[in-house]
Amino acid sequence: MQFLLNELVDKNRAWTNYGKVAGYIPELSKKDPNKLGIVVVDVKGKIYRAGDYETKFTVQSMSKPIVLLLALLDNGEEVFKKVGKEPTGDAFNSIIKLETLNPSKPLNPMINAGAIAVTSLVKGKTKEEKFKRIINLFRKVSKNPKLDINMDVYLSEKKTGDRNRSIAYFLRDIGILEGDVEDILDLYFRQCSIEVTCEDVANMGMVLANQGIDNESKKRLVPKYLTQIVKTFMVTCGMYDASGEFAINVGVPSKSGVSGGIMSSVPNKMGIGVIGPALDYKGNSIAGVKLLEDLSKELKLSIF
Ligand code: DON
Repeated sequence: MQFLLNELVDKNRAWTNYGKVAGYIPELSKKDPNKLGIVVVDVKGKIYRAGDYETKFTVQSMSKPIVLLLALLDNGEEVFKKVGKEPTGDAFNSIIKLETLNPSKPLNPMINAGAIAVTSLVKGKTKEEKFKRIINLFRKVSKNPKLDINMDVYLSEKKTGDRNRSIAYFLRDIGILEGDVEDILDLYFRQCSIEVTCEDVANMGMVLANQGIDNESKKRLVPKYLTQIVKTFMVTCGMYDASGEFAINVGVPSKSGVSGGIMSSVPNKMGIGVIGPALDYKGNSIAGVKLLEDLSKELKLSIF
């Protein structure tokens, strides 16, 4: 496995010359596009690391499946009164269907509109308490008690995130968001700015792969049923409007982020964390996807 990972990182590094680092969050545009790293954690706890696996990056949209777990723990199926279960075929930050559907709600929890609605459902008396609950779950599933926010990325998105601001105010207008919109956005920007490494992300994918159980302590962290819901969303919507092609070529529940990270979860086998900051126009890491394609073919990881 170690040899294979080294070989596949070397082979796919050329792809980092294609695509672009996300520009709409100014702080992300400073990242090195030529990085490519991967960590695989298998159910037995073996860890394999290759390439630039020590690179730090923010979770961005890879936070969506984890915060969805918390909202489902807090509210059960009530969550689906506010957000749907269907793919959109639109960009991750699209606003168009919110106006054209009637009655309207975000189509799924993996697009920004759906994720903002999900974040608003996290329980807590204050914003601080809500964030504490969010970060604590991240620390648990990543097995990294030191996880925290990258302040520069957080402030950068908070200052420039007008698309998300528009989506959130629209959501309040149609009755999906309740409460203070700026507070909800602030929580969402914070969850996106949590800083991780490939190993943290691989551990997060591992908990989902292992049906909610920590593979080392054997402790149940979340109910199996919720991990099934979340992994299904990762298959149908995790790579946005590239989810169908990714399902054919890789066939592993995965979630991308605009930082260039990808969290993958191979049921009952392994969690995978990948970083490759240069993105295609849909917001997915070009080299990261290519690397996962090769790995899936070599190890026959497709669930289909
Ligand atoms: O809300 C945003 O636009 C970012 N914080 C996260 C978007 C994202 O990661 C989309 N992923 N490819």
